[in-house]
Amino acid sequence: MTFSHQMITQAAIDSFAGTDNPRLKLLMQSLVKHLHAFAEETQLTEAEWMAGIQFLTATGHTCDDVRQEFILLSDTLGLSMLLVAMHDGAKQGATEATVLGPFHTHDAPPMENGADITNGAPGQPLLVTGRVLSADGVPLAHAMVDVWQADAEGLYDVQRGELQSERRARGLITTDAQGHFSFWTVLPEAYPVPTDGPVGQMLLNTGRHPWRPAHIHFFVTADGYQPLITHIFREGDRYLNSDVVFGVRPSLVGDFQSHAQGKAPDGRDMQQPYWSLEYEFSLQKK
Ligand code: BEZ
Ligand code: FE
Repeated sequence: MTFSHQMITQAAIDSFAGTDNPRLKLLMQSLVKHLHAFAEETQLTEAEWMAGIQFLTATGHTCDDVRQEFILLSDTLGLSMLLVAMHDGAKQGATEATVLGPFHTHDAPPMENGADITNGAPGQPLLVTGRVLSADGVPLAHAMVDVWQADAEGLYDVQRGELQSERRARGLITTDAQGHFSFWTVLPEAYPVPTDGPVGQMLLNTGRHPWRPAHIHFFVTADGYQPLITHIFREGDRYLNSDVVFGVRPSLVGDFQSHAQGKAPDGRDMQQPYWSLEYEFSLQKK
């Protein structure tokens, strides 16, 4: 870096010296410092920066009430998961968190413990059972388990055009007095993140695939405990080591077991092969 480059960078940093809010001042000064270092390190050309501006403009134009391309950009650059991991670090014995993703809704239908949340979503039957505990092992009664997932075609209910308002493979289950929950759903499959926008183009131009390994999303809450946003991933999925949004943590890979037709552990008579998954979630005290 030449002396005059340094003067430009320093002047831009100093221009924020009068910012009243100390946090805003730190964020802006650090952003300028790292942006300038990026330009110096890569010897960024003006044409390249114009392409970058056009990319960011297209990213904004792709956003609407239901599509958030900037979040997808943050996800595919690993920034969303870095923030999750940074703020999830100090927990002792609690289940690890991962990204929320764009398909959570606030209207998951409340379901009885043991209910079938499938509602027509295609896929092989899957029985999910588990408990919600405190990080020191005490079962939590009346914890809320909000669950959502993609089906066998790799689609969430909200992605299904005219069926978009129907809730499928999504539900809200309350734990019993011993902290148990269970529900029937379908086996999740891997799916690609949306590729019809600028982020998809970025993945294509850089030789990256757009796939997320198969998973079920959980948002677990209980009075007095920190909310837990996480997924359980399917063991053996071909994308476990290359999740496009970097959300996989080894502790979140679940043991999905396949079964021949017959009586399921909850007494249901299964006329077809089915799957089961058992998982315990541990929450950190507030
Ligand atoms: C999801 O798991 O639903 C998701 C997360 C980040 C980007 C796209 C989808
Ligand atoms: Fe997902």
